[in-house]
Amino acid sequence: MKKELVIVLDFGGQYNQLVARRVRECNVYCEIYSYKTDLEKIKAMNPKGIILTGGPNSCYEEGAPTYSKELFELGIPVLGLCYGAQLMMHVLGGKVEKADAREYGKTEVIVDKKESKIFEGVSEKTICWMSHFDYISKVAPGFEITSHTDNCPCASCENTEAGLYAIQFHPEVLHTQEGTKMLYNFVRGVCGCSGDWRMDSFVDEQIKAIREKVGDGKVLCALSGGVDSSVAAVLLSKAIGNQLTCVFVDHGLLRKNEGDEVEAVFGPEGPYELNFIRVNAQERYYNKLAGVVEPEAKRKIIGEEFIRVFEEEAKKIGAVDFLVQGTIYPDVVESGLGGESAVIKSHHNVGGLPDHVDFKEIIEPLRDLFKDEVRKAGLELGIPENLVFRQPFPGPGLGIRIIGEVTADKVRIVQDADAIYREEVAKAGLDRSIGQYFAALTNMRSVGVMGDERTYDYAIALRAVNTIDFMTAEAAEIPYEVLNKTMSRIINEVRGVNRVMYDLTSKPPGTIEFE
Ligand code: XMP
Repeated sequence: MKKELVIVLDFGGQYNQLVARRVRECNVYCEIYSYKTDLEKIKAMNPKGIILTGGPNSCYEEGAPTYSKELFELGIPVLGLCYGAQLMMHVLGGKVEKADAREYGKTEVIVDKKESKIFEGVSEKTICWMSHFDYISKVAPGFEITSHTDNCPCASCENTEAGLYAIQFHPEVLHTQEGTKMLYNFVRGVCGCSGDWRMDSFVDEQIKAIREKVGDGKVLCALSGGVDSSVAAVLLSKAIGNQLTCVFVDHGLLRKNEGDEVEAVFGPEGPYELNFIRVNAQERYYNKLAGVVEPEAKRKIIGEEFIRVFEEEAKKIGAVDFLVQGTIYPDVVESGLGGESAVIKSHHNVGGLPDHVDFKEIIEPLRDLFKDEVRKAGLELGIPENLVFRQPFPGPGLGIRIIGEVTADKVRIVQDADAIYREEVAKAGLDRSIGQYFAALTNMRSVGVMGDERTYDYAIALRAVNTIDFMTAEAAEIPYEVLNKTMSRIINEVRGVNRVMYDLTSKPPGTIEFE
């Protein structure tokens, strides 16, 4: 595995993960490192190529993130993007200046050097995503300009002899219509990567590696039913069969029927060889949550209780050799690379690590994968599609989709409403195109009339957002008929609800969840 590696050096740009994802879409394995990474370490990794990301700084300012000239003299192809492009020029003797106006948004780029390897198969006029104040006013010696825009004399340049390429716009962003082609041209064409990063080989190699590592040891996995832990569990089950025990805690805050669905897949009736323990802890959670209204307090109780239940089960099993964590690559990146990028992750999955489970080592089989790759691995492993393409679901579950106190009755209301909403969205064929959607239970009761009776019931809020990274989001435009049908079914079928609203708020200022 990882025979061919491309390194992304992170200069603090918001798209650093996107760059790595796009490279992997070209079947080239790629990892992100801070720009502070030592040159010797980079050399030791023997990358086929290096990509410098964008960043919020001005490269000519004192203290701005930089890299020494030697990086460009390793004989390894380097591609600078936005800040990375400017930095390349700055370090190698070109000139970067502040422009009169910011160039921002979709912009037509005119390719001047059609035979440039980067632009192979790219249209002469192509829409690209620009976002910069500074611009390259003079390219470094040995470079030639390969494209421009109306406002920007150098949208890209290159020194093919030295293997150095600079692009002012963002090929990694989907708004750049032929961006993936350009990145493909760099990693496959310029760097000569063969594209040996494939999910089937990843799965096979992981199974082999897990077998070697685990030997005849015992492995314990906390299964949430979410995509990551499910894929991790199946991978382990394929590798070591019933040396694996999965503990699934049903905290009573899952979506409708979800507990049974997880059991159907992973339990004794399911297709996998493993030990499956389901803990029905609903009552225990509802008791702990009684009277608690503050969102963070609820999160904390749900997280801590999860750990306690898990520990109790683990104690019954006794000492194990390994504990499985469903960590994925964005978790690794977001928990900080030690560079310029902010530590973004504000929501850790419930709990963290248990203190009282007797294990020797942690296994994180998905540590190198992005979410879409985890899904691909899941499909490769034969996991049912409805599980693989499951909606993102917060660790604290419906606990943070019920405003105010959580009770069994409120859980029933939100579960039923949410199930109807999901059914209608799926019927309309929208289930794969919306980033995240769900029903939440507001704590508001209002007067209504049903038949001849006055009602005083709860309002359900429907939420649907489009988002790339879950850090920002916009309300999705769901067709009115779908909303209307959902409203009518919820009012008719869910006891305790007499009003349904659609939440139009974007993030910021709202968050995706209600609490
Ligand atoms: P917000 O509400 O912050 O949500 O806009 C962004 C994304 O994170 C998920 N989320 C959570 N996930 N534990 C989790 O594991 C949490 O406490 C939590 N809170 C929010 C949310 O579903 C959305 O995808």
